[in-house]
Amino acid sequence: MKAILAFFGSSIGKKLVMAVTGVALVGFVVGHMSGNMLVYKGPEALNAYAKGLHMFPALLWAARLGLLAAVGLHIWASTTLTLTNQAARPVSYRKVTPDASSYASRTMKFSGPLLGLFIVYHLLHLTLGSAHPSFRPGDVYHNFITGFQVPVVSFFYIAAMLALGFHLHHGIWSFFQTLGVNHPRYDGLRRVLATLITVVVVGGNLSFPIAVLTGVLQQAPPSATSARAGDLASVPGTTGEGH
Ligand code: HEM
Repeated sequence: MKAILAFFGSSIGKKLVMAVTGVALVGFVVGHMSGNMLVYKGPEALNAYAKGLHMFPALLWAARLGLLAAVGLHIWASTTLTLTNQAARPVSYRKVTPDASSYASRTMKFSGPLLGLFIVYHLLHLTLGSAHPSFRPGDVYHNFITGFQVPVVSFFYIAAMLALGFHLHHGIWSFFQTLGVNHPRYDGLRRVLATLITVVVVGGNLSFPIAVLTGVLQQAPPSATSARAGDLASVPGTTGEGH
């Protein structure tokens, strides 16, 4: 037990924690973006998907707790690693020459906290509804469209998604480094993979507020959503009351 704790307290152990939790979080954002794509199929498809997710409350809560643990461990490992690095070099270099690695770590320092803020706001906005102008419990499609019809909200989402892009790109790149896949021969492949995942996730997520602001996605007529919302509101855990 002592040896395990010592390993996870070491730099290598923390980097491994960052990598494993990072993969879980990348998996979540890919899945979340893909599920949200159903908004383009209309209210029935999106609301039925949300209803499906809430069908088994025990499973949903297990996933939520797993996600929360992954976020917590990811933040713990990154913060303690940064503090250790700073302690090892208390006096900064007199002349700092920006290079690729300092650019990347600065990117992570800014994009990480912005994403943390975004997640708190996002839960209040689209899950709990307390930061939403006209939240309807269970009617995810309505909440989605009316939420993004507020320009300042959409612009905040767009800024957060750009931060997510920088974070994802550098995170995926570093993940391969931690695994030891950092031979120059594989650099091209690492770059392609990091760019591909980032462009797909961020492109998909950016499309949502933009589609609402430009009117591509619109509110459904009341008759189209009321039945679905009624169905979903009866499923435990869908209304924000259990969050
Ligand atoms: C424009 C991009 C995004 C849109 C349109 C969006 C949409 C939504 C919606 C509609 C819900 C509520 C689903 C429901 O009640 O069934 C939700 C929940 C959630 N979203 Fe997002 N999301 C976006 C980006 C993100 C990102 C980037 C993250 C994480 C980094 C994230 C994390 C979450 C979490 C943790 C929940 C709560 C899930 C739960 O436990 O019920 N979302 N999102």
